[in-house]
Amino acid sequence: MDIYSNRNTLKFIIMIFALLIGGFSVLYTNDLVKRLAEREQKLIDLAAKGYREIATTEFSESQGFLFREIIEANTFVPVILTDEQGNYISHRNFDPPAGLSPKKQQAYFQKRIEEMRSQYEPIPIEFAGLKQYIYYQNSELINQLRYYPIIQLAVIGLFVLMGYLAFSISKNAEQNRVWVGLAKETAHQLGTPISSLIAWAEYLRTKPELDAEGVVAEMDKDIQRLQMITARFSSIGSEQKLKLENVVEVVNTAIAYLRSRLSKKVEITIKSDPEEGEILALINRPLFEWVIENISKNAVDAMAGVGKLSITITELPEGNVQMDISDTGKGIPKNQFRKVFEPGFTTKKRGWGLGLTLAKRILEQYHKGRIFVKSSEPGKGTTFRILLRSRA
Ligand SMILES: Nc1ncnc2c1ncn2[C@@H]1O[C@H](COP(=O)(O)OP(=O)(O)OP(=O)(O)O)[C@@H](O)[C@H]1O
Ligand SMILES: [Mg+2]
Repeated sequence: MDIYSNRNTLKFIIMIFALLIGGFSVLYTNDLVKRLAEREQKLIDLAAKGYREIATTEFSESQGFLFREIIEANTFVPVILTDEQGNYISHRNFDPPAGLSPKKQQAYFQKRIEEMRSQYEPIPIEFAGLKQYIYYQNSELINQLRYYPIIQLAVIGLFVLMGYLAFSISKNAEQNRVWVGLAKETAHQLGTPISSLIAWAEYLRTKPELDAEGVVAEMDKDIQRLQMITARFSSIGSEQKLKLENVVEVVNTAIAYLRSRLSKKVEITIKSDPEEGEILALINRPLFEWVIENISKNAVDAMAGVGKLSITITELPEGNVQMDISDTGKGIPKNQFRKVFEPGFTTKKRGWGLGLTLAKRILEQYHKGRIFVKSSEPGKGTTFRILLRSRA
């Protein structure tokens, strides 16, 4: 199944598109800013010429016109006019903060002049042996435009994120319904034939002549197995109460049951810390046994039936129980540590890729616990770590 690699390709293509759109938007706005800034610079140049003209020729009608048209046309580029020593004379297109003392105001303009000088060289105006300077800087519009692509990208990003969240939440809700519905239905359907089988076994027990070779005892084992499967499916299909159980005992029982069905060449050890006594954790027994079974089966598969499987159960101080399950199998590549938990991910010919999905689901949703690949080395082995709680 390669729905996952397809999904990753799709994600990659969307990322590339997002980067292209983002990059184009930034470049385009930068070009716009540059052109606007050039235009503003020309305007200031023109204004400077206007000043010079007014200062050097005698006042006339046409000067009044020049003054209005050229200098007052600039309603957006902040400018300060200073004398030769750089002392403030007048300003345009920005408001100094109100209520400043003359001294503070002087300092304020001085700061603005410095700011302007760092952006553009002032334009000198000379007339009648006097010299003045026009300081100016980019208009508010240009500054805003510079930040525009960032704001735009942030808004788009937020939008995409919201869409993605909404989508994945509804997808999860849908998956939940499928899981739960299917599990409930399976448990329900198994119920009738199992009760019937139990009755048949009872009937056979009353007729010793029919039970010559201990068939009924074998049948009972299969019935028990079927009942266990039903218990698992019905547990996953409904909200479950957790019980404090001794997980060392639970793991031992589950493994003892598995051992008879696994290759004899797998050496299984179970250790606990503290060694003596119980280690209690809040679990749903049928479901937790299912987890142990799935992980152990995977381990045995990974070792191709030969190797060591060791389980270490440790009581942690903060009311947590930690369980490490290690094998000496083929290992998992680092880039698949998360992937192995996705439904449908399998490297086996006859695998469904559901074992670990189910384990993760059981631990996270029903036990408020965790499961992850703690470590793995190709060719050497893998350790899965499970965390359980011993307090609600
Ligand atoms: N202990 C392990 N060592 C190496 N690879 C592992 C181990 N456990 C799981 N995997 C990898 O993770 C994949 C997914 O495991 P999962 O149990 O979810 O599905 P599966 O075993 O392939 O199929 P099934 O649904 O029958 O369990 C496996 O196919 C395998 O490649
Ligand atoms: Mg499996």
